[in-house]
Amino acid sequence: MTEVAALRLAASLNRLGTESAFSVLARARELEREGRDVIHLEIGEPDFDTPAHVCEAAYAAMRAGHTHYCPAAGMPELREAAAAYLSSSRGIDVRSEQVLIANGAKPFLFFTILAVCDPGDEVVYPDPGFPIYESAISWAGAVPVPLALHEEKDFVFDVGELEARLSPRTKLVILNAPHNPTGGLIDASTLDETALLLQESDAWVLSDEVYWRLVYDGEFTSIASRQGMLERTILLDGLSKAYAMTGWRCGFAAVPEPLSDPLVRFFVNSTSCVPPFVQLAGVAALNGPQDPVEAMLDEFRSRRRLVIDRLNDIPGISCRRPAGAFYAFPNVGSLPVCADELASRLLEEAGVALLAGSAFGQIGRDHLRISYANSQTNLERALDRITGLIDGLAQS
Ligand SMILES: Cc1ncc(COP(=O)(O)O)c(C=O)c1O
Repeated sequence: MTEVAALRLAASLNRLGTESAFSVLARARELEREGRDVIHLEIGEPDFDTPAHVCEAAYAAMRAGHTHYCPAAGMPELREAAAAYLSSSRGIDVRSEQVLIANGAKPFLFFTILAVCDPGDEVVYPDPGFPIYESAISWAGAVPVPLALHEEKDFVFDVGELEARLSPRTKLVILNAPHNPTGGLIDASTLDETALLLQESDAWVLSDEVYWRLVYDGEFTSIASRQGMLERTILLDGLSKAYAMTGWRCGFAAVPEPLSDPLVRFFVNSTSCVPPFVQLAGVAALNGPQDPVEAMLDEFRSRRRLVIDRLNDIPGISCRRPAGAFYAFPNVGSLPVCADELASRLLEEAGVALLAGSAFGQIGRDHLRISYANSQTNLERALDRITGLIDGLAQS
């Protein structure tokens, strides 16, 4: 019989990346099991409860028997609610037939890339950026083409640099605002120029807008609202971040007609459908009272002030004020240790779990990513620990 150790895995796995948030979380949990106290600033999910009326809607749906397979494209009730939500929030006209439902926003990233890219095609994506973009692009055999976000422009890209990265092989351009990991928001005039440029290209656009409810400064607008853009844009949104529903796994997107059937075929081949009681809870989230979202936004705003002010008080650290999402992306490049080592020492020596910016791309390498989805008390404690460790570095 063949030894298990000799059984081989697919070579393509070498091209599949991961999200370091999950490995840092695993290490933090290990330390906790050893009795250490760890403050969690690594995970990108709201620390609030899912609104009670949303949970009630799920219980009611389960009691009413919505516990079986349902259409792979999504239930008509949620497709309609999501179409109305996308239309009114972006000032566009989305019909329910254009909306698909998936198990979170993530499947749209992965399956869109698989649906539009042949090996050797190019995909432009933000650097720093959500690590799944590069992972999925590489796994599809496509070529990742990073587009730098500039710290001095509050982490917005330069349209001229985007233009320089477009080629006849560009199949897809990924935009993300409000942005993970920097909290940056693309301003209206950059979006206008980007839309004009992309209209002239042969590229699809994937606009990842999952953080759009969490904007503190400036106004959110979508590239999908620009003339001629909805036809080529996968407008991606979901329940995870806006309604503290990360574990429910429900996302939705307005999808250009030619992509709709291919995406549904990916769903049929992989997950079949999103649980119907989850979708009906989603209808309650979108159509019900929005005050829990407002309350969450207010609390995040206070935390943002606390975190950014305290980070900027630490000698050697500078941090832009993020316009949205719930991340700070401080520059630690003038400290005596590199950001990777700092992140690891903060976890191992000070009990603060956060991410090194390098996990998000080359351009992030001098940064840390701090998720402020934790209580103000814990954020204060974490910042005391960070300050203490950095003071120690300066003295050693
Ligand atoms: C930019 C971005 N897009 C998409 C996702 C995935 O969201 P979901 O939980 O809905 O799959 C995340 C989650 O962290 C994210 O940060």
